[in-house]
Parts: sequence; C-alpha cells; structure tokens
Amino acid sequence: MAAANRHPSPWFVAAGLGLLALAGLVAFGRPDERVVPALLLITCIAAFTALGAVGFRRRSHVDATIRAVDQLSATPPYAALVETLPSPILVITALDPEDITNRRFIFANRAARDLLRLDQVSGVLVQAVRDPQVLEAADEALFGGIAAECLYEIAGAQPRTLRVQARPLELAANGARQALIVFHDETELRQSERTRADFLANASHELRTPLASLLGFIETLRGHARQDEGARERFLAIMQAQAERMSRLIDDLMSLSRIELNEHVAPADVVDLALAARDAVDAAAPLAQARGVRLEPDLPAPGAAMVVGDRDQLVQVAQNLIDNAVKYSRPGDVVAIGLKTGLTALQAGAGERPEVPRLSLLTPDRPQGDYAALVVSDRGAGMAREHLPRLTERFYRVEGQKSGERSGTGLGLAIVKHIANRHRGGLLVESAEGAGTTFTVYFPAKA
Ligand SMILES: Nc1ncnc2c1ncn2[C@@H]1O[C@H](COP(=O)(O)OP(=O)(O)OP(=O)(O)O)[C@@H](O)[C@H]1O
Ligand SMILES: [Mg+2]
Repeated sequence: MAAANRHPSPWFVAAGLGLLALAGLVAFGRPDERVVPALLLITCIAAFTALGAVGFRRRSHVDATIRAVDQLSATPPYAALVETLPSPILVITALDPEDITNRRFIFANRAARDLLRLDQVSGVLVQAVRDPQVLEAADEALFGGIAAECLYEIAGAQPRTLRVQARPLELAANGARQALIVFHDETELRQSERTRADFLANASHELRTPLASLLGFIETLRGHARQDEGARERFLAIMQAQAERMSRLIDDLMSLSRIELNEHVAPADVVDLALAARDAVDAAAPLAQARGVRLEPDLPAPGAAMVVGDRDQLVQVAQNLIDNAVKYSRPGDVVAIGLKTGLTALQAGAGERPEVPRLSLLTPDRPQGDYAALVVSDRGAGMAREHLPRLTERFYRVEGQKSGERSGTGLGLAIVKHIANRHRGGLLVESAEGAGTTFTVYFPAKA
C-alpha cells in the first residue's frame, strides 16, 4: 500500500494533461469557444476525482488501522505475551456446575498446546485434561472461587510430573465463571529428590551391613567365644576387615562430596600423567600379587604426557581403574596400563577394541582439543552391555559381582567420572561378557 501511494493517481495525470492543453491553446493564441470550456470541465472533473481518491485512500487506511486496533483489544489481554511464556497456561470458563462438558478452555498458550497435545487454542476442557484431580482443582477455582492445586502425572515415553495451580478470575461479560490454570514442570525436582533419598538409603544400608556384622561378633566374643582363643583370632580378623570397609566407604563418600564441591573449578597445575599412573601401579602391586594378576604397565618417559590437572586426583583415577581391573580379573590374568598422547577428544573417545560394545560415559566439550589418555585393559569377566550406562551411578554394582571378597562399595567409578569431569576430560568403557573390559580416561594436555 505504501508503494502504491508513491505513484501519481491517473486522475491527477488527466488533470495535468488538461491544464497543459489549455495553456497550449492560450499560448498559441487559438482559444476555441467550444474546446476551452470542454477542456476546463474535463480538467476540473479529473482534479476533483484525484483529490477525492486521495481522501478516500487516507480514510480507508485509517479505517483499517482502527479495525486492527479493535481486533487487538478483542483478543485476551497480553495474549501475545502469554502465548510465548514457557509455562503452560489455560484460561477456562464454565456456566453450569452440573454439566462437566460445559467447562471449556478458551485460551491455551503454545506451551500448554505442546504439553497437552492440543491443536486448537480453545475447546472442551475434559478433552484436554482427563485427570480427575486437575478437573476438581479447576472446579474449585471456577465455582468455589478459591485457589486450588494438585499434582498431575503424565505417563508415556517421557513421563512428567507437573504441579497444577488453578486460580479464579473475574466473571466474564456474559456472566460465565472463569479461571486460570498454570502447570509447573517439577519432573527434574522430583528426580533429584528421589536421587537424594536413594543415595541416603544406599549409604545407610552400606554402613549398616558391616556395622551389624561388627555388633554380632562383639556379642559372640563376649558370650560363648569368650574362652575360645582360635575363634577370637578369626573373629577379630573379620571385624577388622568390616571396620576397614566402613572406613573406606566413609573416605569414598567424603572424597566424592569434596570433588563435587569444587567440580566447577577446573584444576590449573601441570601434572605428569605417566608418573601419576606409575604411582597407582605401585600402589596396586600388593593387591595384584595377592590375587595372582600380572600388571603390565607400558608408560612413556617422564615429561612425555603432561596434562593440566590435580596430581592426587589423577592418581585416584588411575588407582580406581587399576583396582577394578585387578578385582574383576581371574588369577593368572594380565592387566595392561598404557598411555597415549596427542589425541583429539574424538580419537580418544573412539576406543581401543572395536570388537566389543563401547559407551562414552563422559564427553568433553572441546572435541578438537589436545588430550592424553590413560588406558586400563583387563581380560577378566567383562560386563553385559546393559550395565554400561549405569556404571558411574553411586553404589551401582553388576549383579553377581556384589558378594564375596571382591565386593566393593560401588563408588569408585562415580569418583572417576566426577574427577574426569572436573578436569574437563572424558571417560569411555568397552566391555563384553567373557571378553574383559577396557577403560579409557583422557585429560586436556598442557597447552
Ligand atoms: N574392570 C571391570 N571388569 C568387570 N566389572 C567391572 C570392572 N570395573 C567395574 N566393574 C563393575 O562396575 C561396578 C562399579 O565399579 P566401581 O569401581 O564403581 O565400584 P566397586 O569396584 O564395586 O567398588 P569401589 O570401587 O567403590 O570399591 C563394579 O561393582 C563391577 O561390577
Ligand atoms: Mg572400584
């Protein structure tokens, strides 16, 4: 419309031509009595029509603007704003409390349409939400005039838990009752509450088991085994093992919470990963010997694998991985400990053993950076694929590996993952039942 306005109206052109013709006739001194009045008349008609058209066009523009403003004010107030709100919102209305089908939603913003899978902004309420508790809360707001809320669980591939709040609104112009329903997604909150409760339950269970055993042996020693020298020695050895287990568990829990506390602060020291791995190999030597497992380190010379890190934590990572490899190997097996440098994260995360299933448990956000990787590989029992995603969960242990002398607390790999994460590094597991396991943990190299 703006572009059309820039062209002169044809009536203006006609009026202009008429004036030109009149001026020409006068200038050449041939004014004809019949032609001049006719030309004058045509010019005037053209000029008036042109002016009228301009006025009409202006008026129709104003009318359109007024209509648009009217339309805007006819939509619910702030509709555009509410439409884009991330929280799902419904405006509902009803006339008759007895008739359930007469409750309607007269506005559903985009988030509400996505959540409730609606393809319209208005419709019958029970077709949008069938949950009786939500409908009850809606009725309390509509007919009771009070604020009401409830929880709404949506089942499906991605189940969600929502807190629904219903609030009464003013009566509509036609006397209908109105209310607002807002949905708050509390899925993640509930999930973290559940994780915390699980964690507490697991931690207390893990502590209670050795504690119950200690109490049992104390009772026995004070009772019928009081005079039995042999039994006393045996029981004391078991009690010591149980007390050590409790102490290890508490150390691991404290270590985990310390790492989590400063996980957002990346370490800044430069550490020799080969020396850290060497320390861990030395520390694992007695356990490996006791279990008849041979450690085969293949580490570069000092200075060849410098990474940005925290030395104690890097040793802790290597110790946990080597400790697992030894624990879950059979006597006579070999555990290989290797180091690779000059890798991108993509290369480090590609793994060592294409023939077995692999899962990345942690991926750094600089895929092209320079990394050094510690690779710990065993030929022990290995694990079925379904266990791989859960290995770094606290207290997770593969079924069948829980009992007996090998039993650990299930915190080692959680610690490894949190340390690698603090270092902005990565963690990869490759394993298959009967084919052994390879863990690769990689850290950013010194710039
Ligand atoms: N190299 C491995 N081979 C086979 N299974 C393994 C291996 N490493 C870990 N697992 C399995 O993963 C589980 C979790 O390992 P994680 O190191 O977190 O706990 P843990 O060794 O049982 O106890 P902790 O390390 O706290 O003493 C183990 O219980 C075991 O079932
Ligand atoms: Mg372990």
